[in-house]
Amino acid sequence: MTRSSSGGVSLSGISKHYGAVRALDDVSLEVAPGELIALLGPSGCGKTTLLRSVAGLEKPDSGRVVIGGRDVTQDPARKRPIGMVFQSYVLFPNMTIRDNVGFPLRMRGASSDAVRKRADELLALVGLSEQADRYPHQVSGGQQQRGALARALAPEPEVLLLDEPLSALDALVRVRLRDEIRRIQQMVKITALYVTHDQAEAMAIADRVAVMNAGKIEQLDAPAALYDEPATSFSAGFVGNRNALELPVVNGVVRLGEALTANAPAGSGGRVVAFFRPEDVHVGQGGEAATIENVSFQGLLTRLHLSVPTGGEPARLWADLPSRNAAGLQVGGSVPVRIDANHVRIFPAE
Ligand SMILES: Nc1ncnc2c1ncn2[C@@H]1O[C@H](COP(=O)(O)OP(=O)(O)OP(=O)(O)O)[C@@H](O)[C@H]1O
Ligand SMILES: [Mg+2]
Repeated sequence: MTRSSSGGVSLSGISKHYGAVRALDDVSLEVAPGELIALLGPSGCGKTTLLRSVAGLEKPDSGRVVIGGRDVTQDPARKRPIGMVFQSYVLFPNMTIRDNVGFPLRMRGASSDAVRKRADELLALVGLSEQADRYPHQVSGGQQQRGALARALAPEPEVLLLDEPLSALDALVRVRLRDEIRRIQQMVKITALYVTHDQAEAMAIADRVAVMNAGKIEQLDAPAALYDEPATSFSAGFVGNRNALELPVVNGVVRLGEALTANAPAGSGGRVVAFFRPEDVHVGQGGEAATIENVSFQGLLTRLHLSVPTGGEPARLWADLPSRNAAGLQVGGSVPVRIDANHVRIFPAE
């Protein structure tokens, strides 16, 4: 089942407009052979447009698409060595799962023995052997997506393109199938682009994550690096469930009462946005008195919504602490809070 080689993908200078909308703005990206890059970003940032440009379903205004060393910019979708999986279930309803998976091979004129052998191999790979003779409406949504994945892999494409393949599934199935897709992608050693707007999904599945915003790639990094070192204000706000507080800079210092003192980065104006994760807010160990506005038990962790007095509007933030340390904390109560300055990322306010 392993393939001899899968080519990389090289995108350079891809731009695409729809009328006045700039869907992609000079995007360049190198995907190494066998690498999985997640395209992560909010709705409308251009993820699908970029994926469809790689597939040949969208024609960019400018730029080049190279797959496995071959310039395919002018090639139609059917001539590109790609397999695609979409958000909606797209199996043919009038064919069994096995016939769906074998369909691309039959289209290429493979013998029925060869088609069946390859379809059964792929069904085993995605864990659908027992459902092979059923029709799509007789299996679950997760199983339909496994079938769609097997069908995309059937013609041995060089690149696998997935556009929010899990977003129609419930949370538990999502996580299981996400891990399965990663396992299969690594086993087949296929180069892949995976579109999602879910940061947890992107970080769990990808070798690297490309954070997209308004038609551009803002940051491209390994998941841990992205999580710890967001390069821009947008990345910091989009990844890591961070608090974001707009604060004044006084004599080069950013301060939130006794809760936080940090140096403003060089060149900051009069106001900055400080980003920090809820686990870096320490509760009950000195700092500034905060009022507890809400206590939300989440299993291992308990999330506190806090309000810290400032000269003007109180600053609102949340803190996550181990639930065993949260006993006795009540709405309306007061707790001292301190934010670990080493883990605060500060960017100029827009
Ligand atoms: N066929 C089209 N005609 C006009 N505008 C389009 C078309 N396709 C996309 N757009 C616009 O281009 C921008 C990028 O769209 P795209 O579908 O790539 O976003 P996305 O990141 O995939 O969003 P989502 O997470 O909602 O799927 C959006 O502003 C969108 O409205
Ligand atoms: Mg999309």
